[in-house]
Amino acid sequence: MKIERKLIINLTYYHVANDVPDISLDIAVVIDVLRATTTISWALENGADSIQVFADLDLLKESAIKWHPQKRLMLGERGGKKIKGFDLGNSPLKVTKKVVNGKRLFMSTTNGTKSLQKVQHAKHLFAMGLPNRRAVAEKIISLKSENVLILGSGWEGSYSLEDSLAAGALASYLEANCDFKVNIVNDELQAALALWNIWKHNIFNCLKTATHGKRLTSLGDYEEDFKCCSELDCLDVVPAQVERGVIRAS
Ligand code: MLT
Repeated sequence: MKIERKLIINLTYYHVANDVPDISLDIAVVIDVLRATTTISWALENGADSIQVFADLDLLKESAIKWHPQKRLMLGERGGKKIKGFDLGNSPLKVTKKVVNGKRLFMSTTNGTKSLQKVQHAKHLFAMGLPNRRAVAEKIISLKSENVLILGSGWEGSYSLEDSLAAGALASYLEANCDFKVNIVNDELQAALALWNIWKHNIFNCLKTATHGKRLTSLGDYEEDFKCCSELDCLDVVPAQVERGVIRAS
């Protein structure tokens, strides 16, 4: 008689790229709620052909210059501000259909693209914000993989409240919606789950309470960005890495 082995999903969370041990990865999910992975999700939802991510600005410019100016855009920020000479900053509100449709976006941000680069060796790499949390969770469930690493982006190596909130939201959805046993491997994720249970009905205020939220508020009026980044499960797009550093809608 064949014994059915119940699949277990081992979920691990790391706050920032530097915390990730040097291991092979099945599934990696990168989160940068404010704002990189939210912007990536909306850009692909709005028809961008692909997003190529860079931690290094010179490498980005060298690659972008090889693309026809009408088929490319350079977007990104440093310190929350648009990078000089770039087409766009890092606001999810600016990657509209009219602006990004059919184009490749060359992207570099302070933290989010660093985290994406850190785990680009994963077999499956997805970018997640709160708008596409359910879509990414359902993709994970469909893959039936045993090991899922969730990676936040933080701020210049320090912890971020909003990324942990989203990691908790992902773990909570998987616990509630998949037939497999979900094993919370580390305390970082236990804490993130607790955080989600405290703030899940007040996401907008959690983002504004976070240090990066305060940093953005000190730079200008980002109310609409906060609204967009705090929307939950409104997008079905799953940004997936198709080749090292290149992300497309899957
Ligand atoms: C980052 O990558 O650090 C963030 O996305 C920065 C931002 O957009 O404010």
